[in-house]
Amino acid sequence: MRRIRPPSQEEHLDRRDFIRAAGRLGLGSLLVAEATVLADCGGSGGSTTTPDASAPGLTNTVTRPPEIGGGTIVASVGSQAIWSGATTPVWTLGGSSPGPTIRIGRGAGFSARIENRLSEPTNVHWHGLASPPEMDGHPSDVIAPGQSRDIAFPIVDRAGTYWYHAHPDGRTARQVYGGMAGFFIVEDGREAALGLPSGEYDVPLVIQDRRTSPDHSLTYAPGPMDLMAGVLGDTVLVNGRPDAVLPVAATLYRLRLLNGSNARVYRLAFADGRSFHVIGTDSGLLERPVPVTHVELGPGERVELLVDLTRDPVGTSMLLQSLAFTVPAGMGGGMMPGMGGGGVAQGAALDVLRLRVERSGPAARVPATLVPYERLDHARAEATQTFILSMGMPPVAGAFTINGRSFDPRRIDVRARRGRLELWEVRNASSEPHPFHVHGASFQLVSRTSGPLGPQDVGWKDTVLSWPGETVTLAIRFEQYAGLYVLHCHNLEHEDAGMMLNLEVS
Ligand code: C2O
Ligand code: CU
Ligand code: CU
Repeated sequence: MRRIRPPSQEEHLDRRDFIRAAGRLGLGSLLVAEATVLADCGGSGGSTTTPDASAPGLTNTVTRPPEIGGGTIVASVGSQAIWSGATTPVWTLGGSSPGPTIRIGRGAGFSARIENRLSEPTNVHWHGLASPPEMDGHPSDVIAPGQSRDIAFPIVDRAGTYWYHAHPDGRTARQVYGGMAGFFIVEDGREAALGLPSGEYDVPLVIQDRRTSPDHSLTYAPGPMDLMAGVLGDTVLVNGRPDAVLPVAATLYRLRLLNGSNARVYRLAFADGRSFHVIGTDSGLLERPVPVTHVELGPGERVELLVDLTRDPVGTSMLLQSLAFTVPAGMGGGMMPGMGGGGVAQGAALDVLRLRVERSGPAARVPATLVPYERLDHARAEATQTFILSMGMPPVAGAFTINGRSFDPRRIDVRARRGRLELWEVRNASSEPHPFHVHGASFQLVSRTSGPLGPQDVGWKDTVLSWPGETVTLAIRFEQYAGLYVLHCHNLEHEDAGMMLNLEVS
């Protein structure tokens, strides 16, 4: 079991100074001083990635990151063509943003070496995977500039769409915003036997909103209101492309959607109102496809869809959008819910991705059943824990708490026992949505006080959105490893501001 290391002076002072100074000076001036132009903050040994899609006329075509099975993954600053006619400095894991897709079979051993060529600490968290605590990318367990870390653990998780991202305490939001995230796809025999769309018809798509700026940079400069709502962009990138277009064949597609945004929630639907099927959520496939016309996706969540384009003529296109929604008022008010300091408000309608049919494709059908999974019987839970998510208001900002506590790397806040089924009640006592995420275990939702569970709420999950005023109840059982993990809000600004607790599994 890993011990809690005393945090380095720098890590520890980060948030405390921030909170103190925020109280003293008013949040605004501090945050402006904190603004980071990614280009200036880089380290040595940057790479340059210029995907072929930057060729004239193709700028908006969605490409797939290269696939790897492990090996050396370098954290560095590079540049990438994102907006037409410009290159943008990006922070990368593995040389591109999104980083290379790690694809590996269940039961295999994953091994990688993370090299930090940034000028600040970083690390990598394997979001959703059962990884041993000392490999998990605990936010206090960072790799110093110029150092590297060897990672090795067996893949025990179900086939599914997981992801990896930078996770150093107090710096996660900035590093992920700069580009440090990628897919981690696990495959297994049961999934393969289903004959789901594969190869070019199986497309991982990470959705991230960003703020456009005249110099085409990804400057991360949160204003005072951004700390409350999280950083919301004005444009949506899909696999690093704005106004993204995915050329497709007229056939059935498996789309693996990841909300890799810092703070934005999407309500995804096609502009023509067509229905599609949800086949998987955070940690793998459901028992059967669920037909829907829209699906909600909070930061950190994944959903897998089957989208039937077999009857769409060549030359037509379908727009995937995020529909407008209203953030419930909740408690702890004083501020308009969803109000941001820039970008487009939480809940505003946004275009996400255009699917453009360019050729005919093979006949295919939606399978009637998928893969059975163990249902946790919440009536047999042996323990109950409650987590109250709350936020302070400016000028006392910084009070981002779970059960009244802001993250302190030296303190253990939550304990769980391996093999014990627990009920966790997650109460949102604030005016913002919070995606609640747990390291080291997956869970299943039992109920939401706001209404029935949605299609994105079924199956094995590791992240769940809780709306203002809502209580979400989940059943959870830690299985694989004992040791130190965290649970936190996956709104990355909230997380960095302390909405995170240490969790010890024994
Ligand atoms: Cu993707 Cu601790 O998070
Ligand atoms: Cu995680
Ligand atoms: Cu939050």
